[in-house]
Amino acid sequence: MNQNARSARSLLLAVAALAAALPAAGRAAYPDRPITMIVPFAAGGPTDVVARIVADHMSRTLGQQIVVENVAGAGGTTGSLRAAQAAPDGYTIEMGHMGTHGAAPAAYPELKYDPRKDFAPIGLASGTPIVIVARKDFPAKDLKEFVAYLKANSEKLNEAHAGTGSVSFTTCALLNSLVGAKPTRVAYRGTGPALNDLVAGQVDYMCDQIVNLVPQIQAGTIKAYAVALPARSPALPDVPTTKEAGLPEFQVSAWNAIFAPKGTPPEIVKRLNVALVKAIADENTRKRILDLGGDLSNEAARSPEGLQKLVENEVARWNRVLRSTGAGKQGG
Ligand code: MLT
Repeated sequence: MNQNARSARSLLLAVAALAAALPAAGRAAYPDRPITMIVPFAAGGPTDVVARIVADHMSRTLGQQIVVENVAGAGGTTGSLRAAQAAPDGYTIEMGHMGTHGAAPAAYPELKYDPRKDFAPIGLASGTPIVIVARKDFPAKDLKEFVAYLKANSEKLNEAHAGTGSVSFTTCALLNSLVGAKPTRVAYRGTGPALNDLVAGQVDYMCDQIVNLVPQIQAGTIKAYAVALPARSPALPDVPTTKEAGLPEFQVSAWNAIFAPKGTPPEIVKRLNVALVKAIADENTRKRILDLGGDLSNEAARSPEGLQKLVENEVARWNRVLRSTGAGKQGG
């Protein structure tokens, strides 16, 4: 090949390499339209509350609206399957949690998605401690009396939860097995609607994420017996820990995190993660979550790699816990 031909070939190769690095012709930069965030429970519950607070700030960073879509059912697994099967183009993400991406595989042996393989993790939004709450006229003045009443009368009591495998279902299954309670377990499409019935006195108790409960506890429309943490929550300074209140073995916390479908391009995962990190670093967003008792201390899980590790650990943990206690099985 003579010199001129060699030079022309080198030029062509250089142009081809440059073209490959540019976005495909006609494809605008991501995101160029609104993004859907699936919340796998009814509006007004803790997952929905955290989702809307975080999506509000993320929308500003991304320059596109994040539209929350509530897709409830089957303890959050209906919405999570929808998210897992969505196009991996960055326009469908999910606010999942310790139930949908931790306990679900043990609660649903036939689960149609694997939280460890079928998602592109974006990052942890918030930790959400668990509070034992009851209707405001429940006949127990403290946790000790509550446990004693449960032991003696659980067959007459109704416990509310958000469906098999949800956080409220799994954590109260643990509580019930610890104290030997066998209540009627009433499933809701989320603990938002469940809380309405607790306030109305239609159900007796619930184990729910703190971010759903602080306003009602502060207003005195429900009773809080204990928070399942080693130390009291700054958002509920008057509510004792389960350790203080005589039930130290009941310590459990949940979390909410953002996921995209597996196969979402790394540059889109990065854009979404940067928007999440900025939201959690934003003073006003932090205050809104902390005032509701959210825990923002786990920075490590706010990266995609850190969240993947959290999911793998949580699936293994809840598999062990639910198998050993027999709690939390479907309909359990
Ligand atoms: C749960 O129990 O998993 C959640 O609280 C459900 C919800 O966010 O409504």
